[in-house]
Order: sequence, then C-alpha cells, then structure tokens
Amino acid sequence: MSFWRCLALLLGPVAIYRAHECDVFTDLDLHHSIIGTSLYVKLLLYTRANLICGQELSHHNLSAQPQFNVTKPTTFIVHGYRPTGSPPVWIHDITQQLLARGDMNVLLVDWNRGAANVNYLKVVTYTHDTADNLTAFIESMQENGASLSSIHMIGISLGAHISGFVGAKFNGKIGRITALDPAGPMFTGKPPEDRLDPTDAQFVDVVHTDMDAFGFRKPLGHIDFYPNGGADQPGCPKTIFSGSSYFKCDHQRSVFLYLGSINRTCNIRAFPCSSYTDFLDGHCMDCDQFKPAGCPVFGYDSIEWKDTLVPLNQTKAFFTTNKQTPFCRTNYRVDVVTWNHDTRWGFITIKLHNGSEVTEATINHKTSRFEKYTETRLLAQFDKDIQKVYKISIKFSTGNALQPKLKLRVLRIRLTHLDDQCHPLTHRPLCRYDVILEENKELTFRPIPCEESNF
Ligand SMILES: *[C@@H]1O[C@H](CO)[C@@H](O)[C@H](O)[C@H]1NC(C)=O
Ligand SMILES: *[C@@H]1O[C@H](CO)[C@@H](O)[C@H](O)[C@H]1NC(C)=O
Ligand SMILES: *[C@@H]1O[C@H](CO)[C@@H](O)[C@H](O)[C@H]1NC(C)=O
Ligand SMILES: *[C@@H]1O[C@H](CO)[C@@H](O)[C@H](O)[C@H]1NC(C)=O
Ligand SMILES: *[C@@H]1O[C@H](CO)[C@@H](O)[C@H](O)[C@H]1NC(C)=O
Ligand SMILES: *[C@@H]1O[C@H](CO)[C@@H](O)[C@H](O)[C@H]1NC(C)=O
Repeated sequence: MSFWRCLALLLGPVAIYRAHECDVFTDLDLHHSIIGTSLYVKLLLYTRANLICGQELSHHNLSAQPQFNVTKPTTFIVHGYRPTGSPPVWIHDITQQLLARGDMNVLLVDWNRGAANVNYLKVVTYTHDTADNLTAFIESMQENGASLSSIHMIGISLGAHISGFVGAKFNGKIGRITALDPAGPMFTGKPPEDRLDPTDAQFVDVVHTDMDAFGFRKPLGHIDFYPNGGADQPGCPKTIFSGSSYFKCDHQRSVFLYLGSINRTCNIRAFPCSSYTDFLDGHCMDCDQFKPAGCPVFGYDSIEWKDTLVPLNQTKAFFTTNKQTPFCRTNYRVDVVTWNHDTRWGFITIKLHNGSEVTEATINHKTSRFEKYTETRLLAQFDKDIQKVYKISIKFSTGNALQPKLKLRVLRIRLTHLDDQCHPLTHRPLCRYDVILEENKELTFRPIPCEESNF
C-alpha cells in the first residue's frame, strides 16, 4: 500500500467524524498575513440549540442548516483587520452573552481570509466585497421570510464600515448597527457613502475608544459614546515597551466595554455633551431632556433610547471608566457654596464610607473656583457605588506648597447621586452645612438630609 493510500485510510474516518464537529473561525498566522490572503466569507451560526458549537452556513441554501430559523432576530458580528491572522479573543464571550440575552441567531462573519494581510489597503478594498457578499446573503434571508428590522449588525473596527455598506444597500432599513471603535485609517474624512453613517440603519450606536490611532474621531451614528474621551483608555499601556498590547489595548477596549453591557455587569450612564472637557467640568449632568428614563445607558441597551435619540439626529455622550471590569463608575454632582472673602482656587477630594467600604474621587482635571455665595458645581466620579453612605471625608488643596495654608469656608456642600436621578428616594442628596476645610487636612463628617434652600 502506498504511503498516500495509507494516509487516506487513516484520515478517512477522521474526516467523517469532523462533519459532526464544530465549525470554527479560520485560524491563520503571520505567515499568511505576509503573503496575503484572498477573501473568503465564512458564516458561523450559533443559537441556543448550538451555543458553543458553531455551524457553517451555506450562502446559497439557507434551509441546509435546520438550526437557522430566519424568523428569529439575527445578530451579525463582523470583525476588523487581523494583521496576525489569529481568531479574535472575544468570539466565545460575545456569542454566549448575546444568546444569554435573547433567543436569536448569532452569525459570526469570519472574513479572516481577506482581513489577514499586512497590506491594510488591500484589506480596505475587501470591506466592500465582504459587504456585497453579506448583502446577497441577507437578500436570501429576506426571500426566506426574515425581516430587515430584526437584523442587528455589530461591527468591530473595519467591520463597522462593512456593516454601514450593507445597511446602505438596504436604504437604512436594517434594525440596528452597533459600531465598536470604527476604523479611522482610510475612512476619516470620507463622505458618508464611503463609511458608516446614521442613515445606514434605523438605529446606529457607536463607541469610540481609540480615536487618536486606529479609531474614528467624528460621530458616525445616532449616538456616539466616547468613554474616557474616546482616545486613551485607563489601564492601557502608554509606551511601546509594553509590546503588542500597546497597539490594540485602546481599540479592543470597545469590545470589552460592550460585552459588559450585554451581560449587564454594570449599567453605565452616558452624559450627552458637546465635549469631554465640558463633561468633566460638570456642565452636562442634567438628564431632564431624557425624562423619565434619564440619560442613555451605554451599550447594548442604548436601543431603549432610540425613540428619543433618532429625532435628535446625532448625540455625543461621555463617561469615564475604571481600568478593568467592572468598568462602571458612579457619578455624583457636588454643589459647593462658600463664604471666603477672597475667591479660592483648588482641588477637592471626596471619600464616601459606608462602614465596610470606602471609595474616593479626586476632582483635579483642573483647578476649581470657589467664589463667595456662588454655587460651584462639580462632577465627582467614584470607582464603585457605595450603598448607604454613612460618612464623608473631604479635603481641599491648592497644590501650591509655597503659600501659607488656606481655608475653604463652606456654607453648604451637597452630593447628588447622578446615575439614579429617576429614583430620588434610593439616593437622597447628602448635605453638610457650615464646615471649614483646612488646606490638605481631611475633614470627616456624617452627612445629613438636605434642606430645601435657595442655594
Ligand atoms: C460569498 O462568499 C462565499 C465564500 O467566500 C462564496 O461561496 C459565496 O458565493 C459568496 N456569495 C456571493 C453572492 O458572491
Ligand atoms: C438545500 O438543503 C436541503 C437540506 O440539506 C436539501 O434538502 C435541499 O435539496 C437543498 N436545496 C438545494 C437547492 O440545494
Ligand atoms: C422559528 O422561530 C419562530 C419564532 O421564534 C417559531 O415560532 C417557529 O416555531 C420556529 N420554527 C422552527 C422550525 O423551529
Ligand atoms: C460580563 O462581561 C465582562 C466583560 O467580558 C466579564 O468580565 C464579566 O465576567 C462578565 N460577567 C458575567 C456575569 O458573565
Ligand atoms: C435632524 O435632521 C433633519 C433632516 O436633516 C432636520 O430637518 C432636523 O431639524 C434635525 N433635527 C435636529 C434636532 O437637529
Ligand atoms: C457598603 O457598600 C457596598 C457596595 O455597595 C455594599 O456591598 C455593602 O453591603 C455596604 N455595606 C454596608 C454596611 O452598608
């Protein structure tokens, strides 16, 4: 028996066995990326009946895979540039978490053959081909009874623009496009037809986490979330000496933030505002415009705000995060009235205690101004939500070691929990009257209920 026949006999049963196995995302390496790959669009289906084990779908015979029920909602996940050819690390989490939220078809669009190429420009041209391919597939879904409004496309980086191109082919009738850090290079400055734009779906939500490198700076959707301002993410390396994570950490953070919103690890409120600076300065804490729901929640559930957001055309919204999961922080509005004769400038540090835990916020992105009998309004952001605040510590500092220590004479300080404005009873504002803060000296007190007052 020849070597080859022997090998065929050995492998034969394996091949038959494999037919019942899972179909997996194309796994390539740097070598493929250097020679370049040509486009192949593989569709992997995950449902509640095949949660972990993906099944490849035929592009031309939708009934060939009985698990694929087109009358259910379908979520496409479209990845981006894959310069190393490896499968994305978040595949398992995103498919599992979506299926935990709803009974749907999750279609992982694997265009790794195409996306794995050191030549980014070539990959950009493939985004149009991938979009055409998906458009044809969605057309056959329609012929089989699917409705466009039950389709949600989640596009990561280049995948965001692919989703936009598909959406444009259907004149914006697709239900929703979510763009996770849409790619900037080769798309920035392009007209709407050459990139994602709000007319591509009934609702387009976007998150920007790396707009100064691989991401896109300008708003592209009905709502554009800019976590931590949208450029640099906390916990991501700031120097190239940290290896490859230096390149992808900010960009990838969009996916991890979104995952946390699908599984509701924490609800992140985002504050509509014209700029990140205005947000940090505390100019955008009012959510009355969104009554009774309050300001939009970031991520998967932002669709609940669709009817309010779409008529506004384009909304930019801001929040800050922790450096790891749980990413959500807790925001308080701090209103301070002072009575020093001379205007004081400085920073405020606040600690909230509840007997077992403590959390701290430092408001030092710039010096705050405290003028006699004038209310100074600040945004304080804590890394966690302390229930039943029992003690508050406050410190005032000027950062100026050369001048004599100053005092800040506080007539009233009031802390209002912002994330729960619609449940004022669970988070009553906390007040304290008539205290003197000596510079750099922490003052700790029990908060008392606030009086209705003119201040
Ligand atoms: C989409 O891509 C797949 C694989 O690359 C191919 O088999 C299929 O024919 C394509 N569909 C269309 C409409 O070109
Ligand atoms: C599609 O697949 C089903 C199930 O495998 C098969 O019965 C049917 O003949 C196929 N249709 C075509 C047009 O190939
Ligand atoms: C397809 O999904 C719909 C809606 O969930 C359901 O009513 C129907 O029974 C399903 N069809 C099959 C063949 O499972
Ligand atoms: C939710 O997703 C986040 C981000 O992937 C993860 O860290 C967290 O463990 C998940 N929580 C649950 C309960 O699955
Ligand atoms: C939204 O855009 C439409 C069409 O361009 C315009 O008529 C409308 O005034 C805009 N609405 C807002 C709130 O800017
Ligand atoms: C303090 O707050 C934490 C976080 O919200 C909570 O888990 C804990 O039970 C609270 N402890 C007390 C004594 O209220």
